[in-house]
Amino acid sequence: MKIIELEHPLAKHYLTLLREKNTSFEIFRSAASKLSYLLIIEATKNLELDQEKIQTPLVETLGYKLSSNTVAVSVLRAGLGLIDGPKDLIPGMTFGYIGVQRNEETAKPENYYENLPEVKDKDVFILEPMLATGGSLSFAIDTVKKYNPNKIYALTVISSPEGIKFISEKHPDITLLTASIDEKLNENYYIVPGLGDMGDRLFGTI
Ligand code: URA
Repeated sequence: MKIIELEHPLAKHYLTLLREKNTSFEIFRSAASKLSYLLIIEATKNLELDQEKIQTPLVETLGYKLSSNTVAVSVLRAGLGLIDGPKDLIPGMTFGYIGVQRNEETAKPENYYENLPEVKDKDVFILEPMLATGGSLSFAIDTVKKYNPNKIYALTVISSPEGIKFISEKHPDITLLTASIDEKLNENYYIVPGLGDMGDRLFGTI
């Protein structure tokens, strides 16, 4: 599995806002949104371009356009916090949603919703901000793989070493992007130092 950890100073700045426990919902949402731009820019660095001749006001020159063969799949509900970057930056991006909830006792994923656009042969960006045990991300990757995508990228804000190990064993073919690889999971499967519950902090459900 290819792992890319964001090194950009802006990523560290916005991640710090997310980590701080006194950050308001508004600032938290805005920082998650800003990070989603940094993640998708890094993830799409090698997207293919079509070349075409265009006319500037002065001369004819070569231009480049992205072919629209990309899908972003949010893992509900925290994945909704990373939609802005993919939505605003990538032309023709379509969106899917997978509802996976963690069984609080077993920490195993359960599916409660699935709604995907055409995925076959497309590059798929799975938005799952917290890679903790890896259960829900692996579940989402398995779901997407059923529809024969081209490449799969997982966009995360924080990843645990345990989650990375799990995903790299189950899905060595994907690329993982993260703003931070943290220290460990605690006994409640929260990432440490982490940022707490991403969904609660995005939507104010604490
Ligand atoms: N999900 C979260 O929102 N936070 C964690 O630390 C782990 C899983």
